[in-house]
Amino acid sequence: MAEACSSTALTFDQAARAKARPVFTALPYLQPGAASVLKDGDEAIVIAWQTNGVGGEYELTYDGRKATIDQRTLKGGDATESEKRLNYVADLTGLRLGRRYEYKVSWNGELILEGHFTTRKPRGQKIRFVAFGDNSYGDVSDRATAYNAYRAMPDFVMNTGDNVYEGGRDDEYARYFFPVYNADEAGPRIGAPLLRAVPFYTCIANHDVHGKDDNHHPCADFKKDQDALGYFTAMHLPGNGPVPPPFPTPIIGPEGPIATFKTVAGDRYPRQSNYSFDYGDAHFLVLDANVYVDPTNEALQRWIEADLSGTDAAWKFVVYHHPAFNVGHEHYAEQHMRALSPLFEKHGVDLCFHGHEHTYQRTKPFRFKPTDLSGAQEVGSGGRLVPGEFTVDRKFDGRTVTKPDGIIYVTTGAGGKHLYDAEMNGEPGSWLHDQDAKADYCEKVVTDRHSLTVIDLDAKSLTLRQIDEWGGEVDRVTVTKA
Ligand SMILES: [Fe+2]
Repeated sequence: MAEACSSTALTFDQAARAKARPVFTALPYLQPGAASVLKDGDEAIVIAWQTNGVGGEYELTYDGRKATIDQRTLKGGDATESEKRLNYVADLTGLRLGRRYEYKVSWNGELILEGHFTTRKPRGQKIRFVAFGDNSYGDVSDRATAYNAYRAMPDFVMNTGDNVYEGGRDDEYARYFFPVYNADEAGPRIGAPLLRAVPFYTCIANHDVHGKDDNHHPCADFKKDQDALGYFTAMHLPGNGPVPPPFPTPIIGPEGPIATFKTVAGDRYPRQSNYSFDYGDAHFLVLDANVYVDPTNEALQRWIEADLSGTDAAWKFVVYHHPAFNVGHEHYAEQHMRALSPLFEKHGVDLCFHGHEHTYQRTKPFRFKPTDLSGAQEVGSGGRLVPGEFTVDRKFDGRTVTKPDGIIYVTTGAGGKHLYDAEMNGEPGSWLHDQDAKADYCEKVVTDRHSLTVIDLDAKSLTLRQIDEWGGEVDRVTVTKA
C-alpha cells in the first residue's frame, strides 16, 4: 500500500505545477475586431485576455455557441512562467446589430468571468461615446477618468491616443491600462470594469513608437523593448486600412523579437494604423499622425477621400492624435495634419478629435486654407508649421445657433497624465499666436483639471459635454444638422 502511494505521489515541483493557476495580466476585455461597416447578422466582436505562462483549456460561450479561441505567445523562449505572456483571442461572429449578448469565459471548467455587451447600433438609434487621451501611467487621475467614463455608460470608448506611457509596451498595458480600465470594481481611485462591457477604440500615437533610429527618428526598437508596439498586439481594431499603409510604423531591432511580434500581431501590423468604422449615425475615420507620416502624400489622401466619400452616415468624425489646431505651448508647432483640413471640409467632416496636448480645447467652427505645405512635408521633424487663412464662424454658439460653418476641433488629452499650460485656463488672450495672425479660432480651453468628453448623438443633433475628474460639467455645446 505504501509502495502504491509513493508510485503515484507527485514531486514538489509537480504538485506546485498542478496547483498553478494562470495569472491574468489582462482579464477578458472587449475589442471592436475587424468589422467596419454596419451589417446586421454579420457583426463581430473580439474578446481577448492575457495571462502569464500557465496554460490550460479555455472555453468562451455566448448566445448558446462556443467561440474559437486563438492563443499566441508574446514572451516565450527561456522566460520564466511569470514572465511569459499568453495572448488569447476569441472572435465572436455572425452577430445582430444593436443586440445585447451574454458571455462566459471559463478555464479548465472553472468560471473566470461572465459579462455582457451590446453590439454596434444601426442607423437611426441614439448613441453615446466617450473620448479622452493621454491617460494611463499609474496616476490616480487615470483612475478618475476610467471611473467617469464608466459612469457615463457609453456604448464605446474612442481613445485619442497615448493610451499608455512611456513606450506603448505590452508590459505597460498590463501595469497601467488593464488593471484600471478593467478593474473588478468601480471607484474614483480604483478605475472601473469598463473594458469587459464596452469596446475600446484607440489611435496610434507618439508614445506607441518610442525608440529612435540612427537618424534619431521615432521607430519601434525591439532591441530596447522586446514587447514594443502593444498597440498592434493588445488592440483588435477595424481592418479596413490601406495595405500597406503609405507610412507603416518603422521597426528596428533583432529578428527574433520582431518575428514574435509579427506572429502575435498578424495582419493587424501595420494595417490598423489607419481604419474607419460606423456606429449608429456616425462615421469615424482614425488616422496615424505620427511624425513619420507625410499627410500631403497622394496615396494617403486618395484613401482618405475614398473613405469619407464612401459613407452615407449623417456625422463624419476624424480622430488623430497630434492636433492640427491647438493653442498650447507644448505641441503648438506640430501642425502637419493641417494639410488634410481642406479634404475634410470638402467631404463634410463635422468634428475632429485629438489628444497629445494634456488639456481640453474646443475650437469655434472654421475653415482653413493652407498657404504653404512645405512644413507638413518635413517628415521626422518635431516642428512642422503650416500657415494658412482662417475663416472663423463666430455666429455659432452651441446653444441658440447650433448649425456650424466649418469643422470643430476638439482636443481631449486631459485623460490622466500631468496637465499642461495651467496659466492658459480661462485666459483667451493667451490662446492667440502670431504665427496664426492671432486668429481667435479657439473657444474653450480647460487646463486646470483632468477631463473627458461625452458625446450623445442621433442623425439630427449632437451634444458634447466635457466632464472633469470630479464629475462636474466644464463645457457643453450642441451641434445640429438641419
Ligand atoms: Fe502624445
